[in-house]
Amino acid sequence: MPVGSACGKIILFGEHAVVYGRPALAVPLSQIRARATVVARAKDGIVIHARDLGRDIVVNDALVEDALAAITRLTLEKHGAAENLDITVESDIPLASGLGSGAAISTAIVRALSTYFEKVLAPAEISALVYETEKMYHGTPSGIDNTVIAYEQAVRFRRGTPLPEITPFQIARPFTLVIANTGIASPTKITVGDVRRGWEQEPARYEKIFDNIAAIVEQAQEALARGENEMLGELMTLNQRELVALGVSSREIENLLEAGLRAGAGGGKLSGGGRGGNVIFYVEEERAEEVRRAVLEAGAAGVILTRVV
Ligand code: PMV
Repeated sequence: MPVGSACGKIILFGEHAVVYGRPALAVPLSQIRARATVVARAKDGIVIHARDLGRDIVVNDALVEDALAAITRLTLEKHGAAENLDITVESDIPLASGLGSGAAISTAIVRALSTYFEKVLAPAEISALVYETEKMYHGTPSGIDNTVIAYEQAVRFRRGTPLPEITPFQIARPFTLVIANTGIASPTKITVGDVRRGWEQEPARYEKIFDNIAAIVEQAQEALARGENEMLGELMTLNQRELVALGVSSREIENLLEAGLRAGAGGGKLSGGGRGGNVIFYVEEERAEEVRRAVLEAGAAGVILTRVV
């Protein structure tokens, strides 16, 4: 049966500023994935069975802003294909939590349809298709989610016209991240929109914050390349301070950060759009279990431990 799968992602440094042309660093999260399967349908039409959403979507009847129907239409157009199909999607990636669930589900659908029609798409082509649906989730997305997920590799991303700058970055020594979910679904479109309004009202103040974030990204990239991982925690905490200044943190995020840092994490920050979603901690391996326990006690809805390599 034609199957497509796609990883989640974590932004290590640089969210929000990346929408304004500054660089950001993101890594794939391969252990949590979205999957799609495609089979021929005996009856007329194309139906998407979205198990996690408890929804069946009839593609021909779906609203234009339905992202799952849209990615299906776009992929079929790209392949010049038209057939009756049942598409089933499921995902381990929590929705609206900064782990790239929307882009991962779209990528899984593109891959499953491409396998079904025996077409091969390059990561850049997949990424471009998925970017179209990211606009539905995000409003003005930078393109970082679809890029990391379609390439499934660590990337430094910088928005550009006509094309973004996408460069792999080096991780000289693997390190451990604790990823803690606040349990609060926070649509990226809202925080991205709020930052935009702030920037329109006080451009100089916001530009300065974006520049500060860009400087942190450069330092983090150098530290990663040199294997100076012990700097990462402090840089995360500095990046978090800038995200607070942008107004995208929240009481729940601060609460989890405080608990993790008290339990010995080297540093931490929110990851993704903010106001909910996930926080990430840089931890020494031997502290990871203690940090995990502490954030769960502080109310985290879920914790993922991952080695970034
Ligand atoms: O999809 P999320 O929540 O990981 O957020 C994406 C990161 C932002 O920089 C906030 C938005 C964007 O389009 O880059």
